[in-house]
Amino acid sequence: MIEIEHLIKVYRRGKIEVIAIRDVSLKIEDGEMVMLVGPSGSGKTTFLHLLGGIDRPTAGKIVVNGENISLFNDKELTDYRRNRVGVVFQFFNLVPTLNALENVMLPMQFSGKVENKKERAKELLKLVGMEHREKHYPDEMSGGEQQRVAIAVALALDPPIILADEPTGELDTETGLSIIKLFKKLNDEGKTVIIATHDLRLLDYATRVLKIEDGKIYESQ
Ligand SMILES: Nc1ncnc2c1ncn2[C@@H]1O[C@H](COP(=O)(O)OP(=O)(O)OP(=O)(O)O)[C@@H](O)[C@H]1O
Ligand SMILES: [Mg+2]
Repeated sequence: MIEIEHLIKVYRRGKIEVIAIRDVSLKIEDGEMVMLVGPSGSGKTTFLHLLGGIDRPTAGKIVVNGENISLFNDKELTDYRRNRVGVVFQFFNLVPTLNALENVMLPMQFSGKVENKKERAKELLKLVGMEHREKHYPDEMSGGEQQRVAIAVALALDPPIILADEPTGELDTETGLSIIKLFKKLNDEGKTVIIATHDLRLLDYATRVLKIEDGKIYESQ
């Protein structure tokens, strides 16, 4: 479970302050598939970065399975990012000089924990329907294919939580739907999935929709 209490994120640039997350408190249970929708600049990416341990809150707490990640030191936060959350960004997070299989193996190599790295990477590529593109480099794959490989990378260390920032933003309707179905499948298998999206057609796949406006998050009825 993720418990968020009085979360605040303020960006300071010189004398200008932007309050990107404004006193948000909510709980996300294990196994939820949450869609976060809201206009550009409302705080979606900021919120996912805080949940993913990529950035730190200005105030408030994020408690994941009883542990307050806001108090983690850099080493603990790195471990959290590696092992406990998988993050998929809007712009693909693949290494251009590595092929699909090597990209999926990369987090396993950093972690050193996984045995049979190659077999696991192959299994993950199969899961996302990309087993036929193992040897392809990112610039030899379509946008949707790169996004599927990016999802396999996020799954490499089997994190219980998946965060995705507009994962279908650049894709055509059909490809976008296939990506969202893949997230749904992961959710059906027990993972907690949190997706920021502009795409209202995706909301049918959510178990819960949150609306974000000017840094405030509301439940959508
Ligand atoms: N590093 C930063 N420094 C200063 N302000 C920032 C920074 N990152 C984001 N902001 C501001 O914080 C607010 C929230 O930004 P955020 O990127 O979270 O929005 P978003 O909902 O993801 O928007 P979009 O749909 O366009 O991706 C915006 O007003 C933005 O200008
Ligand atoms: Mg964003």
